[in-house]
Amino acid sequence: MRATDLDPILVFATSDKGGTGRSVTSCNIAYRLWMSGLDVAYVDFDFGSPTAGALFEISGAERGVTEGSGLHSYLSGAINEPVRLNVVRETDRTELRRDAPRGRSLVLLPGEIGGGEFGYDDVSVVRAATLLGQLMTEFDVVIVDLSAGRSAALDIALGATASAVLSNRKRRWLVFHRWTRQHVLAASGLVHGPHGILATAAARGHNKAAFQASMRCVRTAVAESDSTRAVDSAQDTWVKVQAEALQKLANKEEIGAAMLLGQTPIEPMLQWREQIILDNDVGARLANPSTVDAYTKLARHLTDPAIWDSSR
Ligand SMILES: Nc1ncnc2c1ncn2[C@@H]1O[C@H](COP(=O)(O)OP(=O)(O)OP(=O)(O)O)[C@@H](O)[C@H]1O
Ligand SMILES: [Mg+2]
Repeated sequence: MRATDLDPILVFATSDKGGTGRSVTSCNIAYRLWMSGLDVAYVDFDFGSPTAGALFEISGAERGVTEGSGLHSYLSGAINEPVRLNVVRETDRTELRRDAPRGRSLVLLPGEIGGGEFGYDDVSVVRAATLLGQLMTEFDVVIVDLSAGRSAALDIALGATASAVLSNRKRRWLVFHRWTRQHVLAASGLVHGPHGILATAAARGHNKAAFQASMRCVRTAVAESDSTRAVDSAQDTWVKVQAEALQKLANKEEIGAAMLLGQTPIEPMLQWREQIILDNDVGARLANPSTVDAYTKLARHLTDPAIWDSSR
């Protein structure tokens, strides 16, 4: 039974480069949505590196589940149901279990150990559409973590969402990138470039304008550039100039303020260890409150209709 009678939301997490913070940020958003009282499924479509189990700290599934039980076998047509891991039941993090909202579920659908990237084909597209359609009847939010770049996972997701099963559902596409020149250029290429998301979406039958309205960027691990602080050193001046130049570049590359869903600050805890940041971590002064605030805000923005009014 879903937590609310709101239209369920299907979220795709993409990035051009690897190591952008796509998975860690998505997991933390999933966690915050669940803590806010929603049923959430996290689907690991990073076929070449299915390590979402590690983020949820589920021992035995850190590198995926055994061959013949996970998403790889399901999408290739070998099995009819991919395994689901109930995070509260399976996680090694006792604090996560202790704070769990009553009656709400947070579920991981993992890939398989050793399962590689696979190509776009009709079977995987139909199976992906069927699975995601089914999950949307059970969960309020379904988050799909896609492989980096112009991957088969991305193409399958674009094909599946163009199909009748999913074409009328609420979909959001997030593009994660670091806040540097190279990452801004790469992210813009992924969105607007040849063979990028918009071009591939149009080729798969999506309406380009509606599709674009369903896309937002998330800037991750953004370094502080405190504009309110008095400029008192050459370094401060330099940082200020770079911050402005980046804003200009992002606007010129059409991934600027109008496309921004939110950003996360650099979090020392995540520089050492990929994990969900619990309120408990902030209470123990291990993590910064601004990090939890950023994830909470991203989760809220993701479900705020005012931010997504012209998309489905
Ligand atoms: N806000 C943050 N502050 C500091 N480090 C971060 C932050 N967000 C993520 N990281 C770290 O950045 C690294 C890359 O993050 P993550 O694995 O989520 O990226 P990814 O885009 O999913 O990479 P891949 O393409 O390899 O799957 C991780 O070590 C993670 O802990
Ligand atoms: Mg990842």
